Amino acid sequence: MAMTKPVSHDVVRKPTTRPANPRFSSGPCAKIPTFSLEKLADAPLGRSHRAAVGKARLKAAIDGTREILGIPDDYRIGIVPASDTGAVEMAMWSLLGARKATMLAWESFGAGWVTDVVKQLKIDAEVKTADYGDIVDLASVDFDTDVVFTWNGTTSGVRVPNGDAIPADRAGLTICDATSAAFAMDLPWDKLDVTTFSWQKVLGGEAAHGMLVLSPRAVERLESYTPAWPLPKIFRLTKGGKLIEGIFVGETINTPSMLAVEDYLVALDWARSVGGLQGLIARANANTKAIADFVELHDWIDFLAQDPATVSNTSVCLKFTDPRIHDGAAFAKAVAKRLEAEGVALDVGAYRDAPPGLRIWCGGTVETADIAAMLPWLEWAFATEIEAQTKAA
Ligand SMILES: Cc1ncc(COP(=O)(O)O)c(C=O)c1O
Repeated sequence: MAMTKPVSHDVVRKPTTRPANPRFSSGPCAKIPTFSLEKLADAPLGRSHRAAVGKARLKAAIDGTREILGIPDDYRIGIVPASDTGAVEMAMWSLLGARKATMLAWESFGAGWVTDVVKQLKIDAEVKTADYGDIVDLASVDFDTDVVFTWNGTTSGVRVPNGDAIPADRAGLTICDATSAAFAMDLPWDKLDVTTFSWQKVLGGEAAHGMLVLSPRAVERLESYTPAWPLPKIFRLTKGGKLIEGIFVGETINTPSMLAVEDYLVALDWARSVGGLQGLIARANANTKAIADFVELHDWIDFLAQDPATVSNTSVCLKFTDPRIHDGAAFAKAVAKRLEAEGVALDVGAYRDAPPGLRIWCGGTVETADIAAMLPWLEWAFATEIEAQTKAA
């Protein structure tokens, strides 16, 4: 039975319990709950990343990624420069242009990839967009073209519910920016030809390096097609028409941060300790459910995502819906400021290009107890700001 939402007009008392960790940023995300700098003490600092010790660490990062994400054995996994952006750019500049492309965007990062393909690469592309909160109808997409899309729109909190719309026998490649999805959502590897993510997102690692996952079909394209444009060394995945296999066993294109690698290995160990991917998904789902229960109980707040099937379990985006609010952007900013000033929720304002509201990271490194402790503060900040606004009017 649907619960009725009480309208809150009463001034709410300041809660007394604060979250143990108020870090709810959507990137870099909260580090693993057991994190301490001492855990990085085994990093082979001051050693060559091409020495056996460095290579072994880089290979362990690749192997651990495959193990926890369940990536098929015949997919390549590479550690590449420039975080998720580097991985996506590398894929687009290396692979696109062989056939028509379809660019899908429903928030800021997807829109960025559209700009690159249309304005920089200038290739023949159909662009399909949806407003913040909505998603492109995947059933309308021609997967015989190369399709570039974002699995989880970090700035709108809207995700692809599953890979059902992607045909197994597609002729095009699917290039998926999964940076705020990997380690929190089930990704259908058989439907994804290129998948990218950064360590700084769901596992709370450090930025700097991107992960590039290639299906056999993506490798086939790399080895059979040469783009018409020049590629800088930092993007080059082939040499003499053959894949540079070394990249996919830990021989990085340029020098990686072994401290960041160590940090990722520690995060992977922690992921194993909470039950691997299914454990991480369960943690993200529990965090999101705590917010969903709160939304259900309060009539002044709602998900930005319109379809419940597309509500993200990592970057949860919320909007204020109270008719008493005069200036939505100023109101949301003021609430986020109050939460930050109290030290109970850091970095929870909506992304700069997104509609006004809040964005609360719910990935697995966040403890459900911290979400639960933060929510009464949100109620307090909302009521206090409504009162302030009424007084100022
Ligand atoms: C969907 C998406 N794509 C790309 C990026 C850029 O990631 P990075 O800064 O790690 O390159 C982000 C960062 O938040 C993102 O959310």
